[in-house]
Amino acid sequence: MQRREFVGLTSIGLGALAVGGRWIPPEGGPAPTGGLASRAAARGILYGSLIRIGVADKDPAYARLYADECGVVVPGTSLFWPKTRPTPETFDFSDSDRIYQFASAHGIKMRGHTLVWYKQLPDWFAGRVTAANAESVLRTHITTLVTHFKGKMHSWDVVNEVLDDKSSRPDGLGASAWLDFLGPDYIKIAFQAAHDADPQALLVYNENHMDYDTPQWDRKRELVLNLLHRLKSEGVPVGALGIQAHLNAAETHFTPGKYRGFLKDVASLGLKVVISELDARDNQIDGSLGTRDAAVASAYSEYLATALDEPAVTAVLTWGLSDKDTWLEKIHHRKDGQPLRPLPFDDQLQRKPAYEAVGRAFDAAPSR
Ligand code: XIL
Repeated sequence: MQRREFVGLTSIGLGALAVGGRWIPPEGGPAPTGGLASRAAARGILYGSLIRIGVADKDPAYARLYADECGVVVPGTSLFWPKTRPTPETFDFSDSDRIYQFASAHGIKMRGHTLVWYKQLPDWFAGRVTAANAESVLRTHITTLVTHFKGKMHSWDVVNEVLDDKSSRPDGLGASAWLDFLGPDYIKIAFQAAHDADPQALLVYNENHMDYDTPQWDRKRELVLNLLHRLKSEGVPVGALGIQAHLNAAETHFTPGKYRGFLKDVASLGLKVVISELDARDNQIDGSLGTRDAAVASAYSEYLATALDEPAVTAVLTWGLSDKDTWLEKIHHRKDGQPLRPLPFDDQLQRKPAYEAVGRAFDAAPSR
């Protein structure tokens, strides 16, 4: 693989000349080749990761890892409402533009996350958005963001986590200010606004909790398929299902045949599938680091062997590259107080068994 001129995230961020610095790996050897993105691309699959301003741009070695390992990046929070819309009247793309500049400097695609979610609403939202103006607020937001990145985004998560398997509603829609203000049609409104702003963009419905063989997640998968059927029958321009795939390395209820059938049902609707936020938490795995890392690697292997068997699965993103910036630390804790190790690289940017598990899954996947 041709050695790339490395253009750091910081140099772009400073607005200085994008000073290309030929990257010398820590060990001084040749630049790594055949990273995860290359192994995935060999099968027609796009691989990448979440990327965070404030993390990747503060660590040139980490930014280099993105350049070597990723074919796509998704901002972790830089496209959330509080960042992009600090007031109802103003928009801020400073962080997301820096990520886009870094990505495009390295031939890396970018995907957007997320235009509509019941979480991460800005502080001004409650006092300013009403049933009367909610549609206008939503349309303005979506139109502004999608237009800003028109022609630049691999895909957009248009709506995120809209179903709740504990919902009392027959359609399973979860609690959301958008549902309160606009009813179930908020989903259709969102997709239509995004499509109108960029008719070429791949528009994704992103969802969680679909992976395991339990009655609760059986219902979730059923609700997801019902929603996708309804959206497609109403001509809503949804192009893909985003499966977050936040795995639990201690979970034993994964039934490949059942999951394969679910993916087939999604694909039968003419939809692509993006594995959008893959990680494997090890907070419930006792034992040595080696034992924990082996369990995480096994979770990736088992899951991806099934998921990648479905040709409609065309992209896989891990929710971070290195354990040092996993979101899971905020919500899961180990009894021994040790940090979690859910991602392909450890907090020193060293490859873990999970790295090779992901790489081998790509190597073994049928070509698209
Ligand atoms: C998380 C981010 O990684 C955190 O940094 C942030 O504080 C909260 O959101 N499902 C999603 C993601 O769709 O947006 C969430 O990401 C993780 C769960």
